[in-house]
Amino acid sequence: MPLKKLFIKTFGCQMNDYDTARIIDLLRASHGYLPVDAPEQADLIVFNTCHIREKAEEKLFSELGRLYKMVLPAHRSPNRPPPIFAVGGCVAQASGQEIVRRAPFVQLVFGPQTYHRLPAMLDQLARGGGPICAAEVVPDSKFDALPPSRGEGPMASVTVQEGCNKFCAFCVVPYTRGQEWSRPVEEILDEIAGRVRQGALEIQLLGQNVNAYQGLDRSGLPHDLALLIRRVALLPGVERIRFVTSHPADMTDELVEMFADLPQLCPYFHLPIQSGSDRILAQMGRGHTVATYLAWVQSLRQACPDIAIASDFIVGFPGETEADFQDTLALVEQVSFDHAYSFCFSPRPGTRAESMPEQVPPEVRTARLAILQEALNAHQLRRNQGRVGRVEAVLVEGPAKKGLGELTGRTPGFRKVHFPGGAEWIGQIVPVRITEGLPNSLRGILDQTSRRVR
Ligand code: SAM
Ligand code: SF4
Ligand code: F3S
Repeated sequence: MPLKKLFIKTFGCQMNDYDTARIIDLLRASHGYLPVDAPEQADLIVFNTCHIREKAEEKLFSELGRLYKMVLPAHRSPNRPPPIFAVGGCVAQASGQEIVRRAPFVQLVFGPQTYHRLPAMLDQLARGGGPICAAEVVPDSKFDALPPSRGEGPMASVTVQEGCNKFCAFCVVPYTRGQEWSRPVEEILDEIAGRVRQGALEIQLLGQNVNAYQGLDRSGLPHDLALLIRRVALLPGVERIRFVTSHPADMTDELVEMFADLPQLCPYFHLPIQSGSDRILAQMGRGHTVATYLAWVQSLRQACPDIAIASDFIVGFPGETEADFQDTLALVEQVSFDHAYSFCFSPRPGTRAESMPEQVPPEVRTARLAILQEALNAHQLRRNQGRVGRVEAVLVEGPAKKGLGELTGRTPGFRKVHFPGGAEWIGQIVPVRITEGLPNSLRGILDQTSRRVR
């Protein structure tokens, strides 16, 4: 049987990246699909989508149409049937059949909690009929139905928690990913042990609110994220651990204290705040104040002075005044973040914020975003420059995009580093002396005089 080819395009967050990797594992095991980079060669084209902001959704439909037009000529001959188009992920979850209405050539629609049924859906399609839409949010035994995860490279991400119960006024995630739920402890440990056997040194635990993790082990003992991390650290071969994304309302002292005493835990904390104004945080329904956020940042820095703090911001949330926005800028000055993602508020269907009065005009949102990003970028650059002269333990991921004998990797604080070096270092943790701090990365040189680093 000739090998079948799968082209998959992923939008959105790291949880979607993880799902994409699992879809590839699944379809390889069930139908012998091999991933390809060129959509013209593919027998199955999958879009794994994101619904978080309006732009992400628009991109999906324009990309779908573009790819459809592009691949059709390659499939005109009678012995080359047209590829199957499938749409999965969070837009599929939110829009279901509507996708088929807007793009009638789509034959499969599936959500983040139903992708394990893809093999059965493909078989059903082969028997005739369609389009097929499976987009429930009931978390059933998705993980039990998946083959063992495979992966290359020294960094492995593993989903430990899915969904969200927080219902922030602006956010679609509780509707697209469903209720918060946590994977059982041993299931996670087995997946991590498998990835370590395949060469992973660094494990990234993923969850929409990863620090809301509440899983059980085989004996029924409840584990929070801190305890889960301690169990992961006991696995032989796990050199580094990190986790994203945390919510300020789910912080615990145990989690903070671990940064002082667990050597495998990377000094990096992604803690989104969204706004520096208590009034706006309350309108957003975030369940924390600026003061509680600052107190956690202070505790983290006390436990681990070198910790990199990252965050997310939304500007132009309904009712945000100039004074609220100034509070956000003041917070940025006070914390001096190492890294941050920032967005204009995007009204999303079905969320409370969509119909709130006092929507901020788009041009005001855009202007505020530019000011905020300038401030965030200035801090990021300054903090990157502050690394110059240090020797950082860099986990080498591969050749740098620009080539030229350069490698790329990440420091424990998740800063990207480029340095000259040969392929023999790929997949290892090596000491790199930092020579330059740039806006989005560092440059350095291998420091072979340093001892082994983590
Ligand atoms: N659970 C995480 C938390 O609460 O911080 C964030 C998850 S969300 C996938 C990632 C980021 O997207 C959020 O932190 C927020 O900044 C941004 N985001 C979510 N909904 C948005 C919206 N309607 N408009 C603009 N940005 C949004
Ligand atoms: Fe969305 Fe809020 Fe849940 Fe984060 S905590 S995923 S922003 S609803
Ligand atoms: Fe997007 Fe869904 Fe992630 S909406 S950000 S892909 S959880």
